[in-house]
Amino acid sequence: MGLPLLLLLLTSTLLSTCFPPGSMVNALYSFRGADLSIEPGDHVNRDTDVTLRCKAIITISDNEEVTYFYTVIKDSIDLYTKTTTIDEFEYTLPKVRVSNTGKYECKISINGTEETSKLTKLTVTGLSRPELRIDKTEVTEGEEVTVSCRAPGETGSIYFTFYDNSNEIIEKRATSNELQTKLRLSGSSNHSIYCTYTVSISPTSVNSEKSEMVKVTVKELPIKPVLTISPRDNVFEGDTLSILCTVDNQHSTERLQVELSQGARLLAREYATIQHSLKATAPALMFECGLNAGSVNKFMTGSVSVNELFLAPTLTVSPREVFQHDNMMLTCSSEKQAYQRLRNTELIYTLNSSDNALTMTGTGVFNLTAPMYDFNYTCAATAKGITKHSEILTVRPKVAVSRPFIKVHGNAVLGQLIQIHCWSDHGTLPINYTLLIDERKLVTITIRLPNQKAVFNISINKTEDINKYSCAAKNGMKETLTSSRLNAAVIVPLSHPSTLVVPESGEIYEGHLLTLFCKVNGTAPITFMWYRTGDRQPLNTTNSNQTFTTYEVPKVTSQHSGKYYCEAVNQARNIVRSEEVTIEVHMAKWKKALIVGTVLLLVSGVVLAIVVYIKSRRVMAVRAEESVWSHRSPEADAVVDEESSMVTNNPDVEYTEVVHPQPVDPARVPLRKGTDTVYSELQNSPHGAADHHDYGSVEYAELNNSDQPEMYQFHPEVDSYQDLPEPVD
Ligand SMILES: *[C@@H]1O[C@H](CO)[C@@H](O)[C@H](O)[C@H]1NC(C)=O
Ligand SMILES: *[C@@H]1O[C@H](CO)[C@@H](O)[C@H](O)[C@H]1NC(C)=O
Repeated sequence: MGLPLLLLLLTSTLLSTCFPPGSMVNALYSFRGADLSIEPGDHVNRDTDVTLRCKAIITISDNEEVTYFYTVIKDSIDLYTKTTTIDEFEYTLPKVRVSNTGKYECKISINGTEETSKLTKLTVTGLSRPELRIDKTEVTEGEEVTVSCRAPGETGSIYFTFYDNSNEIIEKRATSNELQTKLRLSGSSNHSIYCTYTVSISPTSVNSEKSEMVKVTVKELPIKPVLTISPRDNVFEGDTLSILCTVDNQHSTERLQVELSQGARLLAREYATIQHSLKATAPALMFECGLNAGSVNKFMTGSVSVNELFLAPTLTVSPREVFQHDNMMLTCSSEKQAYQRLRNTELIYTLNSSDNALTMTGTGVFNLTAPMYDFNYTCAATAKGITKHSEILTVRPKVAVSRPFIKVHGNAVLGQLIQIHCWSDHGTLPINYTLLIDERKLVTITIRLPNQKAVFNISINKTEDINKYSCAAKNGMKETLTSSRLNAAVIVPLSHPSTLVVPESGEIYEGHLLTLFCKVNGTAPITFMWYRTGDRQPLNTTNSNQTFTTYEVPKVTSQHSGKYYCEAVNQARNIVRSEEVTIEVHMAKWKKALIVGTVLLLVSGVVLAIVVYIKSRRVMAVRAEESVWSHRSPEADAVVDEESSMVTNNPDVEYTEVVHPQPVDPARVPLRKGTDTVYSELQNSPHGAADHHDYGSVEYAELNNSDQPEMYQFHPEVDSYQDLPEPVD
């Protein structure tokens, strides 16, 4: 007593230390598991009483009482539950059956704590012998028997199976341990009937032994159908067969219905007797004569083999390749099998055709024209009322190739690769296209795809060679068709660019018309471009239908001087460039002359000034010595007498150069002389005496402030004072 108490104390101490307070408040027990045992063992025979003992593995204090909640589980399904305060529970399976076989567990729950035992398998062996019962052991044909099969004492899910002469005839699942069903036993012999059953236990099943065998005798009805076929031997196609279907009925006066059928085809249905005749067809005929009397169906079958008189014809076409509307020959032929029967009989051949011009030129030989489109022909051979058809022969007429076309693809450029296309609008593929040069074959291309053209690449060195090409098309056996000759414009690439300048270089003067010519060899249209050397952009671009172009500068100036060249391009796309030409624009001739004249005038002006200066110095020196009057010239007296007293000694004379306006016309320039210049002498004192000098063609106008100006003319060209132009520097 001392030791268990000590253990208990120890356990409670352990429990209170191991488990936190609250989860098992005041629980003075330790629940560690569930245990299941099967008694007397886990392999038992049927009818044994089996006990499943479920026990809690628990330590508990004396005064403590707990509630145990037991669940017995079989094959994962709850079987039984029980609540008790005892730590052990017994579940009894009295007189076990095979259906009790299974895997058992026991589950114990205490205060929400669950423990489950290990799985333990119970195997029960031994099924009871099935018991078969039959209500009759002697029946007539068509009569039903009621059979039942029982599995004594068995439980669970049971299938029953019935056998007739060891052949399984029925299998059904029963809802109890017995199954009852009805059987109709066929034929007229003896039948041995027995049954078995099967109990299904997851995951398999167990079969019982066989039941006792019961013999059932089926008595034949004294009626039967009779089938008679004549003749039976040496039957050929077309022979007439007589078939009789009747009832052999010795004992009954009942008029029974009979049926005659050939395969699935019902030929006749009559009372008592059917008399039927038909034409034999190869290779064999099967007949059935049947009668129906209540639940009884009786049959008699018979067959006859039929020989062929001739074989099904074969249809052939020749030639194998035909074109639309061509003549063709179809031959239908069949082989005779029974010469003795057909000796004096010809086979008659026919052909399906829509051709009205069909002619037959021999036995089974048909001449006709090929159809436009695919056509299915069949022929038939007929003899002795038997007609046999050939298989379908599909004639696919070809479409003859149409005359081909030839064309250059893109541009035909001399010396470069030229692509030639050749094609026909119609024709069955494949089509062979041949490139010809002057009727000589060069190369052949086979086109197999629709809408495809034959492409040939050539190169020519002479323009006219392009017209030597043609192409030919051919498909099948038909004649070859040739296209027309290739007609295409050949583009000659540009060459030999040259330029011409008018007027000639060195003769170009400002203001003149300048014309630049550019010429090339090659095929127009041509695009010409004029460039001035150093410029990126062309001065001028011209499209021309000729092989030359011009570029005009109406009034050339010195700014047009420079180097020029032209470029040209045509459809051959080769750009040619001329040599450079140098344009040098000379100054106009009148301008030159003007410059020379001006220079000369300046020089003579300077010389004159020097001369006048020197002369005036000398006059002053003379005047200082003698009287003015004594030296006056007689011509000047009339003019100067009022002023004589006012003549000053001032020797300073101012000269103004008066230049006549020049005509623009340069042609007149050379005619003028630098000496046309008119000088006006202006005296800077109002009453100064004038000095008169004769300077030849140089003209002087002496201007003073008197109201009557006086003029001295020394040159016949100047008519009056008013003609004088405004002074020009
Ligand atoms: C020819 O017969 C074949 C099959 O036998 C069929 O597919 C086809 O359409 C027929 N052609 C014509 C043109 O009737
Ligand atoms: C060149 O000729 C074609 C056809 O003859 C014409 O259409 C075109 O205008 C011409 N071009 C020039 C620049 O004359």
